[in-house]
Amino acid sequence: MHRKSRKRFAFSALTLLFALVGCDKMRGGGEGAAPGSQAPGSGAAGSAAAERDTILIGEFGSLTGSEATFGQSTHNGIVLALEEVNAAGGIKGKKVELKTYDDQGKTQEAGTVVTRLITEDQVVAIIGEVASSLSLAGGRVAQQYGVPMVSPSSTNPQVTQIGDMIFRVCFIDPYQGFVVAKFARENLKLENVAVLYDQAQAYSKGLKDDFVKSFTEMGGKITSEQAYTGGDQDFSAQLTTIRGTNPQAIFVPGYYTDVGNIALQSRKLGLTVPLLGGDGWDSSKLPEIAGDAINGSYYSNHYSDEEQRPEVQAFVQKYKAKFGGTPDGLAALGYDAAKILFDAIGRAPSLGGKDIAAALAGTKDFRGVTGVITIDENRNAKKPAVMLEMKGGKPAYVATVEPK
Ligand code: PHE
Repeated sequence: MHRKSRKRFAFSALTLLFALVGCDKMRGGGEGAAPGSQAPGSGAAGSAAAERDTILIGEFGSLTGSEATFGQSTHNGIVLALEEVNAAGGIKGKKVELKTYDDQGKTQEAGTVVTRLITEDQVVAIIGEVASSLSLAGGRVAQQYGVPMVSPSSTNPQVTQIGDMIFRVCFIDPYQGFVVAKFARENLKLENVAVLYDQAQAYSKGLKDDFVKSFTEMGGKITSEQAYTGGDQDFSAQLTTIRGTNPQAIFVPGYYTDVGNIALQSRKLGLTVPLLGGDGWDSSKLPEIAGDAINGSYYSNHYSDEEQRPEVQAFVQKYKAKFGGTPDGLAALGYDAAKILFDAIGRAPSLGGKDIAAALAGTKDFRGVTGVITIDENRNAKKPAVMLEMKGGKPAYVATVEPK
């Protein structure tokens, strides 16, 4: 009896400690590593993790800020996968647990919360981010500590070039740029296209270059290249210049909040040509912001909820039952990323970073919602892309483009 009460005291002291740590996190303070925590590259997480009775996975994402739906949708997808794996008994007899931090869409915060996931929470692996610039910031930390990270949806090539701990389950932007260029040339028969991109985002800059390269190689002409900085409110100078070059469409490889504002302002300036874009448009907020101004525009994405593949339809049904809305591409990719990570952990001989990374690298022909996923030698996935048209405020499926 005496022992039992001591144990209970120890337990509540621990609970209190966690509560305090939790408060600290809420304030966003306490950047330094806790004493006795893991040093970069020490691989200590494996042994610490082996002693836990659950498997702890970390997640970092933009749950607030101008890209908030990216983080929220991704989180929903991960939670769905988590519930499924635990309902099926967990992995190797252990339940899987998730620790999630909001990076607010900020680069510095991404680095801070990934450090915290590794040094304080001692996660065995990390899922995140969506925006490539944030995956680059968090990925450098994960690589340094030897903790595997799976980005569901960052498409900039540099993300997985960070090192052997960094993986993704989506296609990359040289392919996405090719898809949009091919669609513009062959389906829409366009010759003259202007470009307006976000110079502050690795994703937007890279995808702009990739599109321009493919489109000009296919015989198209870029009439004007203009830049903005995410969060800008006034795009009239760039749009007026673009209007003067008489393009048949404007390629806007940005994130949805800016794209919505650009759509509104371009229509106000009398620019009625379609806008073209990439996966960064993927948010229910886009038509909310832009209203009718976005209808008739096209973007590439990782999946469409209208696809008839059984993996897609089963996922859409489960998602609707749990969350009520139609899942976007982020939710599908979050789900796939989590499933692939759980599958890899199940095959890994231990919970050490090296073993999980090796198992991730061995992912082959995994039937995901967003396509069949094989991790290649550069830790990327080669998958088809879909083209969608905004119609009546909703993305409608137009075509699937298979990789060469
Ligand atoms: N691919 C984008 C990036 O790398 C992120 C994104 C993916 C946004 C899918 C929406 C949908 O920044």
